[in-house]
Amino acid sequence: MITFSSVSKYFEKTAAVNNLSVDFEHGSISVIIGPSGCGKTTTMKMINRLIDPDNGEIKLDGKSIFDYNLVELRRSIGYVIQETGLFPHYTVYDNIAVVPRLLRWDNTRIQNRVYELLDLVTLNETYSNKYPSQLSGGERQRVGLARALAADPDILLMDEPFGAIDPINRLTLQDVLLEIQEEIKKTIIFVTHDINEAIKLGDKIAIMDRGNLVQYDTPDIILTDPADEFVEELLGHDRNVKALSLIKTRELLQNHGYITITPGTTHEEARAMAEENPASSVFIQDDNGTLMGRYYLETRKDKSRRLKKVDDPWVVDPNMNLNETLSKMLQTGEKVIPVVTRKRKLLGVVTLGNLFNAANRE
Ligand SMILES: Nc1ncnc2c1ncn2[C@@H]1O[C@H](COP(=O)(O)OP(=O)(O)OP(=O)(O)O)[C@@H](O)[C@H]1O
Ligand SMILES: [Mg+2]
Repeated sequence: MITFSSVSKYFEKTAAVNNLSVDFEHGSISVIIGPSGCGKTTTMKMINRLIDPDNGEIKLDGKSIFDYNLVELRRSIGYVIQETGLFPHYTVYDNIAVVPRLLRWDNTRIQNRVYELLDLVTLNETYSNKYPSQLSGGERQRVGLARALAADPDILLMDEPFGAIDPINRLTLQDVLLEIQEEIKKTIIFVTHDINEAIKLGDKIAIMDRGNLVQYDTPDIILTDPADEFVEELLGHDRNVKALSLIKTRELLQNHGYITITPGTTHEEARAMAEENPASSVFIQDDNGTLMGRYYLETRKDKSRRLKKVDDPWVVDPNMNLNETLSKMLQTGEKVIPVVTRKRKLLGVVTLGNLFNAANRE
């Protein structure tokens, strides 16, 4: 949908962007990542013509961006920047309404759109009368996103939109963006410094270094087959562990390595079964398949064994990614963790051994 062919941009005599050829695909999130000054913002600004290239061609849907009317081009492209650029003396409502007003929408249509967008970015209507200074950084970013989406642009450019947000709120905003994208399916170009953010959000990731495109691939390929040492360094030493975030827990769960007993089983019977199968976890499961508890066979210092019952054992959700499941296992010390649905139906288990193999797959 957005095609760069041999595009270069020079400032004085140095190339900020050097001979860039890349396709940003329709309806997906393309992430641009690389060190400061590598040309990310310049690349992005050439799409909405805040900067014009010196060489090469940029096309939108097969048509050169120079053949579009500039005002219409900009209107079809939403732009979110790090400091959001909200107008401080406008309320949240008026900030979001800027472009619809320029387009001379009637007031009812504008109002409906503003409330629809506030809902989309998970802010309730009471926010509409607040001023940017009365919002947290994360809330301001949501308003910035709502404003960029106001006139329903096809393309969304996001230049380090979450860069100034603390890590926890940042994860939430990433989830919000992914949920919104499920619904709106825009063509999003997203610039970041954060490799974890790139892996989480990107359908594809473009890695740049000093104006050059070093690799452009899916997160999976980048993690398993980095183009060179520069990419390896960017990924860090834990790239195998990072790759776990691409796999859902449901894909790794196994249906062996544990035994299930009914809630009516006596302690003695449970103990006999646990001792007979010392390598297996023992789960209590009712007729509906619901996990009701877990037994642990503990070995004391004197080598004698003790059976301990836990009514509310640690569990993971099948939709969590393997990185999240690994964190949970490390936090709780479980080497085997049950995977259950929202209604606590037992689906199987994930073991540390499985996770180790998944992290070391080639
Ligand atoms: N208007 C300008 N005039 C002169 N040089 C510029 C201009 N804009 C950018 N540059 C230079 O072009 C290079 C690329 O800049 P760009 O803003 O694209 O980097 P970036 O990858 O977005 O960096 P950051 O991660 O710090 O935002 C840098 O060396 C920068 O100094
Ligand atoms: Mg930049």
